[in-house]
Amino acid sequence: MNVHTDPKKAGAFALDPSIDVETTDLEGIGHVDIDRVIEYVHDTSLDRFPSYLKLYEKYHHQRWNVYDLDFTQDRKDWLEMPEDSKETFLQIASGFHHGERQVEVELGPLFFGIPEDYKVFLTSHLEDEARHTIFFDRFYREVVGIEGDTILDVLDGSYQYISETFVGPFGLLAYLTDDLRKDPYNTKILMRYATAYMLWIEGVLALSVMKITLGFARDNNVLPAYYAGFTATCRDEARHVQGGMRFIRELLDEDPSLVEELHETLRTLLILSSTSSAYVLYEAIGWSEDAVRQVLGNQLRRKLRLIGVTIPDELEEMVDKMDPVLAGG
Ligand SMILES: [Fe+2]
Ligand SMILES: [Fe+2]
Repeated sequence: MNVHTDPKKAGAFALDPSIDVETTDLEGIGHVDIDRVIEYVHDTSLDRFPSYLKLYEKYHHQRWNVYDLDFTQDRKDWLEMPEDSKETFLQIASGFHHGERQVEVELGPLFFGIPEDYKVFLTSHLEDEARHTIFFDRFYREVVGIEGDTILDVLDGSYQYISETFVGPFGLLAYLTDDLRKDPYNTKILMRYATAYMLWIEGVLALSVMKITLGFARDNNVLPAYYAGFTATCRDEARHVQGGMRFIRELLDEDPSLVEELHETLRTLLILSSTSSAYVLYEAIGWSEDAVRQVLGNQLRRKLRLIGVTIPDELEEMVDKMDPVLAGG
């Protein structure tokens, strides 16, 4: 791939370190380094998580219009990208295509058993996930070239690229969603659900994969609308993760024994993530399995520090050994 050699696109990736991540619009966030947005997620601490209503207020300032994106240049870039880069990119992005849709449709049962203020914020979280689903629907139609009458048709078209490891954490989330639907005020199930959804899928997997695919787009000066929309998505995820971590912390303050549920859920996720039979060629987009594993481990440890939770040594060892899992929401 050529790196930063196409003068007509130089403006698309002119990153501007003076742009404020918190307040910039869709146009501006397309010029923010993705690594700064990932740091922004952690710009909080145990004693100063934003309130649910503060997160709801931020949503109104940060919300972006998915129909404002113009994928014309992305389509041209796509047609010129090497086949092996496209293949790896699709293996990673398709986890998101399906993941965003699943976290959208599986948020409903959480509405019953959470604090009143969280319910208000959760309406915005749900709307974000619907918008992220449309973002990927547009990307797969207009850039990758998959056709279909409905959202599900296009999802069917990208299913061939899904890595088997998608099935693990998202399968677990499907079961936990069903458990929560049947027993929505059960704090043990709420803890397991929040650990799988907000801590792992959004806080660890999604942010790690964003760093990988967006770093690829940035470094190779390709896919500018994907970069802008997905970096804006990353900022949305910051609110979801911060709301989820606040909720996990509140559950633990009320009943410290619930840390067992958190540990058990992590243990299940780490077992599911420790094996796969298909290899993703990360090198085709400038990464390696070791580097991806390090990013995942760092993201997990940082979230646990933020909520003030330690994990047993045996789980620590599993973090070091896990295979990268590529999907998110
Ligand atoms: Fe999310
Ligand atoms: Fe999302």
